[in-house]
Amino acid sequence: MAYQNLLSEIRESVLYVTINREQKLNALNKDTLSELAAVIADAAQNAKVRAVLLTGAGPKAFVAGADISEFAAYSGEEGEALARNGQHQVFDAIENCPKPVIAAINGFALGGGLELAMACHIRIASENAKLGLPEVTLGLIPGYGGTQRLTQLVGKGKAIELITTADMISAAEAEKIGLVNHVVPAEELLTKAEEILSKIKQRAPLAIGSAIRAVNAAFRQDENGFEAEIKEFGKCFDTEDFKEGTSAFLEKRKAAFLGK
Ligand code: COA
Repeated sequence: MAYQNLLSEIRESVLYVTINREQKLNALNKDTLSELAAVIADAAQNAKVRAVLLTGAGPKAFVAGADISEFAAYSGEEGEALARNGQHQVFDAIENCPKPVIAAINGFALGGGLELAMACHIRIASENAKLGLPEVTLGLIPGYGGTQRLTQLVGKGKAIELITTADMISAAEAEKIGLVNHVVPAEELLTKAEEILSKIKQRAPLAIGSAIRAVNAAFRQDENGFEAEIKEFGKCFDTEDFKEGTSAFLEKRKAAFLGK
């Protein structure tokens, strides 16, 4: 599928998605959000895709936020719809994607950009990255899940400090507080993400989807995470991958998983 605001290609079972509005620091306008919704929906069901690597075009920004020019004149009702639709179609869809989504944060990740990275399952940042939720400088709060996911990742005290001060923090600070998993020099960003993905790709695909669902359940109010884990654990026993994984171990060979 061809996109106007995204570059996408599948290489070695990884769907590489690059948000491609470099002149606007990859700010998320409506069209880009619709395309992200489409590309994630496709990744979730496309058997050729084992994982997604999401990054921003150019050396300066991952994503510098939602496109401020689009919502400057919105009413409360329009603002609520913007957040609701965006959260559902893009941010929750990424979090619930059964294939791991890695954010390679190559520069500014601000506002909706940091929210996008936080919706991903794993975050790698380049040393020059700057991260923050500056919405209160605009008279807003984060609306794409930022108040919730930042709190989950770094705890309530740090989340309230970062959101209310609108501070931009360095990649090193982000790693220290658990906001990103790894920090690497800019030229090693994709290699680091690929190194992690190459391990994940050797594992059983359906078990990975189950693990993501069970971990996500830890943060859902409407679900008991331990119960979700029990169900997902049980489901794994009915997969061919489980038979293959256990047989391979007992036969002292490497498992060849089919995702069935
Ligand atoms: N929405 C719309 N346009 C944006 C944008 C956003 N969130 N972030 C950057 N841009 C645009 C700028 O308007 C500018 O466009 P122009 O060249 O047509 O004027 C272009 O991207 C480059 O940005 P600029 O501000 O000139 O770069 P800079 O290096 O001086 O500053 C930032 C970089 C990231 C500090 C600054 O762009 C910024 O503060 N962006 C907004 C961050 C924000 O508040 N995000 C939360 C939104 S909810």
